[in-house]
Amino acid sequence: MIDTHCHLNDEQLYPERKEVVERALSSGVTRMLVVGWDLDSSKRAVQLADEFDSVYAAVGFHPENLDDISDDALKEIEQLAKHPKVVAIGEIGLDYHWFKEEEHRAKQKVWFLKQIELANKLNLPVSIHAREATEDTYNILVDHPINKKCVLHCYSGSPEMAERFTKLGIYFGFDGPITYKNAEGPRKCVSTIAIDRLLTETDCPYLTPVPYRGKRNEPSFIPLILEKMAELRGFSINEMEEIIDRNAKEIYGI
Ligand code: NI
Repeated sequence: MIDTHCHLNDEQLYPERKEVVERALSSGVTRMLVVGWDLDSSKRAVQLADEFDSVYAAVGFHPENLDDISDDALKEIEQLAKHPKVVAIGEIGLDYHWFKEEEHRAKQKVWFLKQIELANKLNLPVSIHAREATEDTYNILVDHPINKKCVLHCYSGSPEMAERFTKLGIYFGFDGPITYKNAEGPRKCVSTIAIDRLLTETDCPYLTPVPYRGKRNEPSFIPLILEKMAELRGFSINEMEEIIDRNAKEIYGI
């Protein structure tokens, strides 16, 4: 199994990384993609990829963390991205939930575009964070296509929007919320999105799946996400695992 979006580089998990990785491996999660959100967390993602065979890294600036972004910082991201275990630029994108001011949103767009350009220059796929910004994200991806593949991580848009994104070749990551009682939206998406575009992720330490909701999340909970996906699609867990493995290989080569 694979966790295509996790933050072992987060303070909540990093000090216990050895135990966390061991628990993941013993629950059958053999690959983890650790995603950065700024320069330091991206460096740490690469360092974790060096430390553990099962860990890969994505590097980039999250739209909520643009305080220290600069062209020089992006040059450092570019250097990090040359590491053989960096398989994506991410997470990058737009977050309109926390940022209502037009000025900040404009800034987010500028750096989203610059990081798309970087991914295209390096020929890497992209992990996108889009929160309450699906329409703008869609328009940007239409105007600035990504050469390699890309994923909308923790997809929270509508099934209709997902269909439009699917036509652009986009993948969709799903996490703990598909196990939550009140989350009909994400479940509907898992049920209807093209099967070859689905990915499993935890986004740990956040979004812990049921029955551990409220506790800290970690990659060893991936089987709970996979099981729910299998149930929603009418596959056995093994079949679903094969499908997700194939999808992850297609986008990230891991
Ligand atoms: Ni994340």
